[in-house]
Amino acid sequence: MTKGWTKSDWRAKPRVQMPDYPDLGAVKAVESQLAKYPPLVFAGEARKLKKALGEVAQGRAFLLQGGDCAESFAEFSADNIRDTFKVILQMAIVLTWGAKVPVVKVGRMAGQFAKPRSAPTEAMGGVELPSYRGDIINGFDFTPEARIPDPQRMLQAYTQAAASLNLLRAFSTGGYADIHRVQSWIAGFTEEDEAKRYREFATRIQDAMDFMAAAGVTSETATSLSTVDFYTSHEALLLEYEEALCRIDSTTGLPVAGSGHMIWIGDRTRQTEGAHVEFCRGVQNPIGLKCGPSLSSNDLKVLVERLNPDNEPGRLTLIARFGAGKVGENLPRLIRAIQEEGAHVVWTCDPMHGNTIKAATGYKTRPFDSVLREVREFFAVHKAEGTIPGGVHFEMTGQDVTECTGGVRAVKDEDLSDRYHTACDPRLNASQSLELAFLVAEELLDRRALSRAAASQ
Ligand code: PEP
Ligand code: CO
Repeated sequence: MTKGWTKSDWRAKPRVQMPDYPDLGAVKAVESQLAKYPPLVFAGEARKLKKALGEVAQGRAFLLQGGDCAESFAEFSADNIRDTFKVILQMAIVLTWGAKVPVVKVGRMAGQFAKPRSAPTEAMGGVELPSYRGDIINGFDFTPEARIPDPQRMLQAYTQAAASLNLLRAFSTGGYADIHRVQSWIAGFTEEDEAKRYREFATRIQDAMDFMAAAGVTSETATSLSTVDFYTSHEALLLEYEEALCRIDSTTGLPVAGSGHMIWIGDRTRQTEGAHVEFCRGVQNPIGLKCGPSLSSNDLKVLVERLNPDNEPGRLTLIARFGAGKVGENLPRLIRAIQEEGAHVVWTCDPMHGNTIKAATGYKTRPFDSVLREVREFFAVHKAEGTIPGGVHFEMTGQDVTECTGGVRAVKDEDLSDRYHTACDPRLNASQSLELAFLVAEELLDRRALSRAAASQ
């Protein structure tokens, strides 16, 4: 793999979306401090995730990736981490029921701090300032001081990521994630009048669990019911931070990004000759690649060759994010490019980033219906092409925020100002997230029914 690569090679490549720090000496000092800190994740865990994603690539597992658009220092709390984790677990059970295969759970958590922006500056009340680029880079406050990139923020991000991971690891194995508890939360959601159509679904899951219990399969007899494997991921945007946390895995002798289990390359930083691709190609972690409408089939081929030269299943996850109404004109050509290369990839759908609009009230929002429509288009194209829709990727939170509109407990345009807390893009709230899981599970069940019918003909 990537012979001769070093973790600082990206520095010689063109970089975009990265800050110009005013004090390079201060950056160096932070980098050498971070380089001495322990990695946040271990290579064996990244390899385990890669293996699980290899199963996804072949349709034997399904990927659920979700969490904040941008984690922030201000919103950091045990409750927030717990609530997001809790919703992801609920969604995973519902999706397991739909897909009838294991669901690989990956949070946009414990490291999702750096943000690419569509414009370098922001204007408010006649004042123009550099854009906010995520808490790991500069401050959200609209003041000239806050917007100066400050390398010390990398240390705070590291500390927050370490504490978040510590809690997530405890929740994953300490009893909190027990399937029976998670099922009881789901049942709570469906009790509400508006959620009637999901009730039957939840009852069937409960029946399956009752049956297993009667047959002697309980949390005591099967650890797979009482614990979960939970992985972390983020966009590898701030390469100074990524390089400082890159380590050599003692088992394989290969470099590994120690900042999270999976890292991805954003739609704005996927230049074939750019710094971000250069860094990501050299680490052995699973890599995500955002695929937006401007990605040419040829560039995709070059990127696949560069990021996964050994065609390892599970190494590369292609995250399609075209926007509702644009999947049909983009996904088929990219699927065919992948087929022409004979490449093993996971195809997953991010129905968030192509569906951001400005509400009449001025808030950035995403209509639930557009999100759902893009997911359905993604499934339909895969069905038509005979390929595998491997998973879904959501910006979501366990909090009861009002950032995306719609859903059974409808959030309306005029509600957006009530609880609009995101530091960047609008997220699905807990109820909208679970509802989407039900709807995606229905798609998956339909797909299974169709392939069963085809097999019996
Ligand atoms: C994101 O995932 O938050 C993001 C910025 O996505 P994209 O690169 O697809 O625009
Ligand atoms: Co986002």
